[in-house]
Amino acid sequence: TSILILNGPNLNLLGTRQPEVYGHTTLADIEAMCRAKAADLGVDLSFEQSNHEGALIDAIHAARGRHDGIILNAGAYTHTSVALMDAISSAALPAIELHLSNVHAREPFRHQSYIAKVVVGIICGFGARGYLLALDAICGHLEDGG
Ligand code: DQA
Repeated sequence: TSILILNGPNLNLLGTRQPEVYGHTTLADIEAMCRAKAADLGVDLSFEQSNHEGALIDAIHAARGRHDGIILNAGAYTHTSVALMDAISSAALPAIELHLSNVHAREPFRHQSYIAKVVVGIICGFGARGYLLALDAICGHLEDGG
């Protein structure tokens, strides 16, 4: 089993970016946590980040045939990008939408998600721990035959 964790814009700044919202954990810390968890679960993990919508779309296209599932924190593109939604649909792989913050407790423009329409489920509000929850969730879903 092989999982892609894909991170969108500004997530490279985690740790210093609005720590009151996103915490002090860096993306490198999160990657290390995820790699340890993936080893426990016995799955292969790719962990990527881009600030560019097209690069994220390319990464989703490349996932087809290479990975079994996608965990996507699309950052602000969650709320704006029909193109990322279409890419997830085209990949025909089970995906989970992930956010560190509870987007529903924040500004109204963060309540709208294009990604939500094409994923198995959503995890938000648990900070960096959400990445580990998402790994458990996607592996469980795949074990169930998803
Ligand atoms: C985020 C939530 C988004 O609304 C925001 O634009 C981000 C991060 C999160 O992980 O909480 O960049 O996806």
